[in-house]
Amino acid sequence: MSRKLYIITFGCQMNEADSEHIARIFRKRGFELTDKLNDADAVLVNTCTVRQLAEDKAISQIGRLKHWKKAKPEGKLFVTGCAAQRLGARNIKKRFKYVDIVSGAKEIGKIENIIDSAYPLHTALNIDAKPENIYRSPLTAYVTVMRGCSHRCSYCIVPSVRGPAVFLSREEIIRDAKEKLAGGAKELVLLGQTVNSYKRPGYTFSNLLEEILNLPGLLRLRFMSPHPLYFDKDFKRILKQYPKLARHIHLPAQSGSDRILKLMRRGYTHNQYLDIIKGLREEIPDLAVSTDFITGYPGETEEDFQETLRLVSEARFSSAFCFKYSPRTDNPAMASDIPENILEERLDRLLKAVKKISNVILLERIAKIEEVLFETADFGRSSSNMAVRINSAAEPGSLKKVEILSAERNTLHGKVLL
Ligand code: SAH
Ligand code: SF4
Ligand code: F3S
Repeated sequence: MSRKLYIITFGCQMNEADSEHIARIFRKRGFELTDKLNDADAVLVNTCTVRQLAEDKAISQIGRLKHWKKAKPEGKLFVTGCAAQRLGARNIKKRFKYVDIVSGAKEIGKIENIIDSAYPLHTALNIDAKPENIYRSPLTAYVTVMRGCSHRCSYCIVPSVRGPAVFLSREEIIRDAKEKLAGGAKELVLLGQTVNSYKRPGYTFSNLLEEILNLPGLLRLRFMSPHPLYFDKDFKRILKQYPKLARHIHLPAQSGSDRILKLMRRGYTHNQYLDIIKGLREEIPDLAVSTDFITGYPGETEEDFQETLRLVSEARFSSAFCFKYSPRTDNPAMASDIPENILEERLDRLLKAVKKISNVILLERIAKIEEVLFETADFGRSSSNMAVRINSAAEPGSLKKVEILSAERNTLHGKVLL
């Protein structure tokens, strides 16, 4: 009977992609994945630290694994990722004596050697392990194109725990994409913290998109997260030319106030951000755009916040993740000076503003035709990343044109056009 690995992943898609990478390394050593902790011979906790709450969750998860380790003393507990990087192995092992191996996010390139120290590779085992595809639907696979980040957004801990931007080679990326398509993926998601800043000598992000868009078997291509500073002219052409490139972009804005954007060192203004969206919508008028916002950045005034609300209605976001600012530096000036009740109230107003516009956008899709990639017989996602349900049955993995008849609770309902 093969040994079993139980994985718990916190944080963003990049962490999920890293967990898949680690799962494959275990697979090569004869492990299978399990969703039952009690069956596990090894446990991986891949941690996040982007906000204090994310780190706290990961830490309390490690705490809860004490029972598992007690019941299975020969089992091995691995702690990886961004919080592991920030806190350090010594710190974590001191606090949780039963943790076997700690490996921070910066060590992802060496993780196979690290795992080897616990579970050496036996060549007789399943060394041909296929890529893992755990987190989205089985049709959707992640392809990491860069690691780390070289920006210095004032609020953000990612560059310090993941290190500076490193771009994978064209060959590595294309090989990974092909392998995942051969394994049954129909949709690929290119991943990086500023994914569209991807650049290798003589080869740009747009070149990469175009090459992947031409791979046989691909039905849809997504990428995240792009940064507003890096869209080039080619990108607009590619968006127009290739319907396989999703009609949805997740473009984190963080704030709508020029003053706060400057303090955050984001490198763009409210109007520049809007102009980018307007430019893309000249090509694709119903391009869906989602975003991330941080409320309560130190010094944020009601006027600043109003600018964010204005951006929500002008940019017409189809959805937005809204976070309360969490201080992640040791600089006391970076603590939020905004009372908790005002913070809560702003977050609430922002969520309501987003909900209002996203509902309008959903209703606007009625009577339109959406291209849907079916994940099950009656459920799929449109190119604009909206959930779509039908009453008949379609083949999972197929792409169909669906006429939208109604919309409710974040889901479009429609019928397949023949
Ligand atoms: N690279 C992406 C964001 C990565 S972090 C970009 O540049 O847009 C994911 C999201 O977490 C960010 O978009 C931001 O909204 C949020 N975030 C990052 N640091 C935070 C902090 N200190 N407090 C609250 N939210 C934060
Ligand atoms: Fe963090 Fe994104 Fe800014 Fe990089 S670009 S520092 S990951 S918010
Ligand atoms: Fe969290 Fe690290 Fe991603 S801090 S958001 S898991 S890059």
